[in-house]
Amino acid sequence: MYSSFQLEERKKDISFHFSQVAKHYRDLRTTDPEPIVYITQELDSVSNLPRIDVADIGCGDGRYSLLLAKYLDGKVQLRCVDNNEHMLETLVTYLKANGISKFVSVKSDAESLPFGDNSFDCIITFNAVHHFKLRDFLDESARILRDGSLLFIYTRTPEQNSRNIWGRCFPQFCQKETRLYHRHELEHAVSAVPALKLRTVREFKYERVTSLERLIEQAENRHYSTFWFYSEEEFVTALDGFRQNIRERFSNSNQARWFDENLLLVIEKKG
Ligand SMILES: C[S@@+](CC[C@H](N)C(=O)[O-])C[C@H]1O[C@@H](n2cnc3c(N)ncnc32)[C@H](O)[C@@H]1O
Repeated sequence: MYSSFQLEERKKDISFHFSQVAKHYRDLRTTDPEPIVYITQELDSVSNLPRIDVADIGCGDGRYSLLLAKYLDGKVQLRCVDNNEHMLETLVTYLKANGISKFVSVKSDAESLPFGDNSFDCIITFNAVHHFKLRDFLDESARILRDGSLLFIYTRTPEQNSRNIWGRCFPQFCQKETRLYHRHELEHAVSAVPALKLRTVREFKYERVTSLERLIEQAENRHYSTFWFYSEEEFVTALDGFRQNIRERFSNSNQARWFDENLLLVIEKKG
């Protein structure tokens, strides 16, 4: 566990990291539509409304905001929230270029959101919750959600992280990534907020096949913020080790295969 001071220091560092990667972040990551399809099905109860108010917290460059807006068929009014202005600039360009007009980008911390009580039908947060102070974020979500509406937290656990290609083959990756929440930690945190109730936890698993060249490109561009915790020297050594591990483990290094896994928590604000 980190002290508040250490957390604040790490947060500053990480924001610098996100500024560096903002312009090419979307090209470096894999965007999976499956959780968005699932979320739109879960939103059945509000899908008849003429307008659906959604907040995407820790939205980054907007790759999941766009998918959700498309799947909800133009009825969604989006508030895209991130504390990194470079990510938000990229998001604005991206959403506009894709014909989305009903959105507002909001620079804010997830732990103190500039919205009124009971103002959203849905909150999503993708690949970001491990950057937040969890209890504060959950309290804020409970405050701004309307009764009976849903919060979706999409993330990966340390166990899932250790089974993907980076956890298995990139030296020190699991040791450096200390921020991810275990499933029981997330469940426990939700149960501690009186206004929230965990409805279900859905697991996602995706088969990936990628060339070594592409994997190296992703790592060199620090597509996971975990790489921020390597010194330059450590990173160069680890990258060499990674190359070697991939060549040893896969007969064809142009087709490295593995599964990425994620969790989606579906949380209801009690009515
Ligand atoms: C790994 S990225 C995920 C972005 C996007 N949701 C996606 O899946 O592509 C995490 C994002 O959370 C933002 N972030 C980190 N800590 C935050 C905080 N405390 N409040 C708001 N945003 C934060 C970062 O700036 C970054 O854009």
